[in-house]
Amino acid sequence: MQTYEIAVYPGDGIGPEVIDQTIQVLEVVQAQAGGFVLNLTHLPWGADYYAETGRVAPPDFLDVLRPFDAILLGALGAPERIPDHITLEPLVRTRQTFNQYACVRPARLFPGVRSPLAVEGSSDVDLVVVRENSEGEYVYCGGRFKVGEPEEFALQTAVHTRRGIERILRFGFELAMTRRQHLTLITKSNAQKYGFVLWDEILEEVRDQYPSVRTDKQHVDAAAMNFVRSPEQFDVVVGSNLFGDILSDLGGIIGGGLGLAPSANLNPEREYPSMFEPVHGSAPDIAGQGIANPVAAILSGAMMLEWLGLNTAAESVRQAVEATLHQGLGTPDLGGQLNTHQMTDAIIQNLEATK
Ligand code: NAD
Ligand code: IPM
Ligand code: MN
Repeated sequence: MQTYEIAVYPGDGIGPEVIDQTIQVLEVVQAQAGGFVLNLTHLPWGADYYAETGRVAPPDFLDVLRPFDAILLGALGAPERIPDHITLEPLVRTRQTFNQYACVRPARLFPGVRSPLAVEGSSDVDLVVVRENSEGEYVYCGGRFKVGEPEEFALQTAVHTRRGIERILRFGFELAMTRRQHLTLITKSNAQKYGFVLWDEILEEVRDQYPSVRTDKQHVDAAAMNFVRSPEQFDVVVGSNLFGDILSDLGGIIGGGLGLAPSANLNPEREYPSMFEPVHGSAPDIAGQGIANPVAAILSGAMMLEWLGLNTAAESVRQAVEATLHQGLGTPDLGGQLNTHQMTDAIIQNLEATK
């Protein structure tokens, strides 16, 4: 029996609510598929831990996470209690330290789900944002100066390395070869002439090695417009850390909502654990009401199964989610009537029906 050690970090707000549901689904698929065991270790980190200890995670949290096969994360952030840059720092540090440089965020409009866009059919939104996840605008490089004085200023420096850009572009090309063979590079090289011109140049250098993949380039402002105007033109969308962050929320909403959008923070070389989490945050506006959509977390769980090589189990989960959405079932964010538990129950029923 193959056993996988999974660190479960539910976090704050709706994080624990959707992770509970994900665990239920994983337990059902594990019993159904057989042949593997997910050994879950719960980590009680986040805003409550901060209230007790003065830290959101223990000082050695990276050493704690390092031996696991994968990390399943809910969401972090309790902005009414703790400044976000404190609560979220462990997340950003985990991605960077574990070289989880490929953040993969698929956005697909499933049959049965309404998009806020007037798109014709579900094939109109089927894209993957591939976000550079280890450097760029998110490096902790900068400082605050002359604090409190009229001349106060802050420096926040982005770091774009040749190695970092090349490896995420190659990751995007490899992914595009398994899909519709199209890659769009997102930059802002018309205004940022150092970092993003380097991205443009490296695209030119590597793209000849992937002759089957068509490429184009868009500045992020135009891309934001085109996600809304003509989402069908996008297949694999590669961008820097910040641009990928912004476009993945946009991708989520045009695919029917953030409650459906999963993500994977991958260390493709598998030197460190990869981390799986919904694109959404802790949703304080609905936390505690029992109405959060569990699908984004459940589909992130499916991405984790796939990463562990449990492809059949991953596919079963995805199909059960799709069947449930196709039946018109959904939580209030989708215009549906179900609460979080009822949505999970419906998914589990579909999972059991397909065995
Ligand atoms: P958010 O993603 O939490 O919520 C945005 C909107 O989407 C809200 O109206 C929310 O109710 C809705 N929504 C999100 N997920 C949903 C779900 N599963 N079901 C139904 N509705 C859902 O973004 P925000 O409000 O900007 O941020 C809230 C907190 O989360 C902040 O502290 C922020 O820093 C943090 N955050 C954390 C992560 C993460 O842990 N990876 C990601 C994004 C934001
Ligand atoms: C995400 C989140 C995080 C990010 C924040 C909370 C640091 O928005 O995972 O998309 O910007 O990466
Ligand atoms: Mn985000």
